Amino acid sequence: ARANIGVVGLAVMGSNLARNLASREGNTVAVFNRSRSKTDELLAAHPEAEFVPSFSYEDFAASLSVPRTAIIMVKAGRPTDFVIDELVKVFEPGDIIVDGGNALFTDTIRREKAVRDTGINYVGMGVSGGEEGALLGPSLMPGGSDESWITLGPILKGIAAVAEGEACVTHVGHDGAGHFVKMVHNGIEYADMQLIAEAYDLIRRATGKTPAEIADVFAEWNRGELESYLIEITAEVLRQTDAETGKPLVDIILDQAGAKGTGAWTVQTALDLGVPVSGIAEATFARSLSSHPEQREVSRELPGPSGTDLLSGEDADAFIEQVRLALYASKIVAYSQGFDEIRAGAAQYDWAIDLGAVSKIWRGGCIIRAQFLNRIAEAYDAEATLPVLLTAPYFVEALGRAQDAWRHIVSLSAASGIPAPAFSSSLAYYDGLRAERLPAALIQGQRDFFGAHTYRRIDKEGTFHTLWSGDRTEIEAEDTH
Ligand code: 6PG
Repeated sequence: ARANIGVVGLAVMGSNLARNLASREGNTVAVFNRSRSKTDELLAAHPEAEFVPSFSYEDFAASLSVPRTAIIMVKAGRPTDFVIDELVKVFEPGDIIVDGGNALFTDTIRREKAVRDTGINYVGMGVSGGEEGALLGPSLMPGGSDESWITLGPILKGIAAVAEGEACVTHVGHDGAGHFVKMVHNGIEYADMQLIAEAYDLIRRATGKTPAEIADVFAEWNRGELESYLIEITAEVLRQTDAETGKPLVDIILDQAGAKGTGAWTVQTALDLGVPVSGIAEATFARSLSSHPEQREVSRELPGPSGTDLLSGEDADAFIEQVRLALYASKIVAYSQGFDEIRAGAAQYDWAIDLGAVSKIWRGGCIIRAQFLNRIAEAYDAEATLPVLLTAPYFVEALGRAQDAWRHIVSLSAASGIPAPAFSSSLAYYDGLRAERLPAALIQGQRDFFGAHTYRRIDKEGTFHTLWSGDRTEIEAEDTH
C-alpha cells in the first residue's frame, strides 16, 4: 500500500485532479480507469508524476494505505453507482469514498445512507473550476461525515485554489450538503452568465457597438466592482474573430444555449423548498427558449416596437454605465437568492452550513469566482444568520446607487423590445421584497372564494373563511393553507 489517495475515472477532470494531487508534497496517487488505455495515456504523458496504476478494483484497494481514500470522477448517475458498488466490495469500514462528480444531492443523500451501513464513509463533493481548476486548484465543496473530513481535509486543502491566503475548501455539512451547495453554485453561474449576456445584448442593440468594442467595455468593467472570472472570459470571447469567416466568433456560434441540468436542479429544488430564485429560473428558461429554433422561427414576425435610433457618443457611454449598474444590482439579487436557497436547504435537510464559509470558498477556483464574494463573506461575518443577503449594509448602499439605472434599463429593454428576462425579474423580486403590502392578500381572497382555502387577518389571530356563496359573513375556520 503505497498511495494515500486514489482517483477512479481518468477522463480530463479525473486526470487533472490526479495530476494536481500528485504535484503536492506528501501525496502518492493511485489511479484506476475502467478501460486500461486512459491509465496508460496518463502515465505516458506525465512520467514526472508519481502515480500508482491499477487495473482491477482489488489491486486499486491494495495500493491504498488505510484509511483508503478514493475520489470518483466519472459521469453522474449510473456510472457513479457502478463504481461505488465496486469500491464497497474492496474497501473496509473507516475507508472513504468521495464522489467528485456533479451528482444530484438527493442521490448523494441516498448513496451516503447505503454506504454508511457498510461502515465506509461516503462523501459527495462539489468540484468547480472546470478542467483548469481541477489541475491548478479547484473550489471544493465536500459533504460527508466529520470522520471523513479528518483524513480528507488536509489532502483537499493541499490541492484547492487559494484566495486571500485561504484554501477554497470547507467541510460544507453532512451527506448531500456539498453537492447541494455545488448545485446552487451552478444555478448562480447560470444567472451570472445570463445577466452578462443580457448586458452585452442591450449594449450591442442600443449602441450598435461591435463585439470587439464591447469586449473593451467588459475588460474595463473587470477592473471595478464587477471583477470576476466570468466578466474576464466574456471579454475574451467577444474579442475572438472566427478564422474561417473573419467575423466576430460570437456572430458565428449558433445561438442555442446548452445545459447539463444543474441549473434546472437548482430551480426544481427551489420550487420544492419554496424559495424564489427567480433570477436563476429566468436564466435557465432563457437557455430553454434559445434552444427551440422551431418556435423562434414561427415567432419572428410577431409585432414589436418600431425601431429607435442608436445611442452614440456621451449618450452611449451613459447608457453603458447604466447597464453596468443594472448588471451589478441584478447580480446581487441572484447571489442573494442563491444563498437563500442554501439557507433553506440547510434547514430542510438539517445541515449546519456556514454561509460565510461557502462564500469564502467561492472566491477562488470556481466559475463564479469574483471580488464580490468578499463582500458576501463580510456580510455573513457581520451577521451569520442574515435572513436576506441583499439587506446587508454594503449591498443596500450598492443597490441604492444602482436602482435608478436598473429601472431605466429594464424600462428601456421593454420599450425597445430587447429581452432582458433576468434583469427585469431581478428588479421585480427586489421590489417585491421591498413592498409593504403585496397583492398576495388578493390571491388569498380568491383562494378562499373558490376553494374555501381560508385566510389569516392582519388584525387578529386565527384562520378565517368568508361564506362567499352564502351571506358573505366571515366565520372562523380550520387552517387548510
Ligand atoms: C464548474 C461548472 C461545471 C460545468 C457546468 C456546465 O463549476 O466547474 O459549473 O460543473 O462546466 O456544470 O454546466 P452546463 O453545461 O449546464 O452549462
